[in-house]
Amino acid sequence: MDAFVKFTNQSQGRDRIFRATQYACALSIYLLRNNCEKKDLVAKLKSLETTMSAGRKLFRLGNTINSIEAAKRTMQLSDWVLRLCLTAANINRALYFICDNALWARSVGLIRDIDKERWSLNASRCYFFSLIMNLTRDVYVILQLMSQKVRDKHFRQKMDAHLNESPEVADVVVPQLDAFLFLLLESLKSQPAVAWDTLKNICDLFIPLDRLGIYQSNAGVVGFCGLVSSVIGIITLVQPTFKIKP
Ligand SMILES: *[C@@H]1O[C@H](CO)[C@@H](O)[C@H](O)[C@H]1NC(C)=O
Repeated sequence: MDAFVKFTNQSQGRDRIFRATQYACALSIYLLRNNCEKKDLVAKLKSLETTMSAGRKLFRLGNTINSIEAAKRTMQLSDWVLRLCLTAANINRALYFICDNALWARSVGLIRDIDKERWSLNASRCYFFSLIMNLTRDVYVILQLMSQKVRDKHFRQKMDAHLNESPEVADVVVPQLDAFLFLLLESLKSQPAVAWDTLKNICDLFIPLDRLGIYQSNAGVVGFCGLVSSVIGIITLVQPTFKIKP
């Protein structure tokens, strides 16, 4: 099982490059949509996007087991908020991959009698819930960092100095808001991994929001957010210090 988990972790890099390509295609197709001269290019990009998406589905066959293993690990966390959020996120991610794998099996003709639209919506729901749980974790970690900072004497002096530096701004814009933003930014700066993870999850959120009709953006926004989140995914894979733990 360990070897299997290790192998699928290695294929994560390939998946992220495929994902980045897929969304870059989606974004380009959107930007070129009104350009009549580029019809050939758009057709090529569309077929590349489809190939990437289909290729990723095949590679993802092992991810259900990976997510279940991850859920087993996060169930051991001592902090109950992290335990709850991450275990729920991983279980939903596993359910998402089950739906995704079923859709793949249907597309290659292994199974026939499943409703494509329903399973695709269920996949998006699980993905959405997994993201919400991940974002809850991010907010929790950020709040913890902020409260640690406020309790630090040196930091409080720094914050007072910052607020006195621009009293006019602080008077016009609510002073509490200024202090809050300063605290937030300094907390994120001290833990870039949390900032990257939050940004990635927010970008990812636009994809199921659009799919589920909760917040309808357009193909351009979805392509752009998907591309940004894929690039952040690649950065965290190449530079593990930017990857949030646990
Ligand atoms: C939620 O976070 C975990 C751990 O960081 C990650 O493995 C998983 O891919 C995230 N879920 C989604 C849907 O991005």
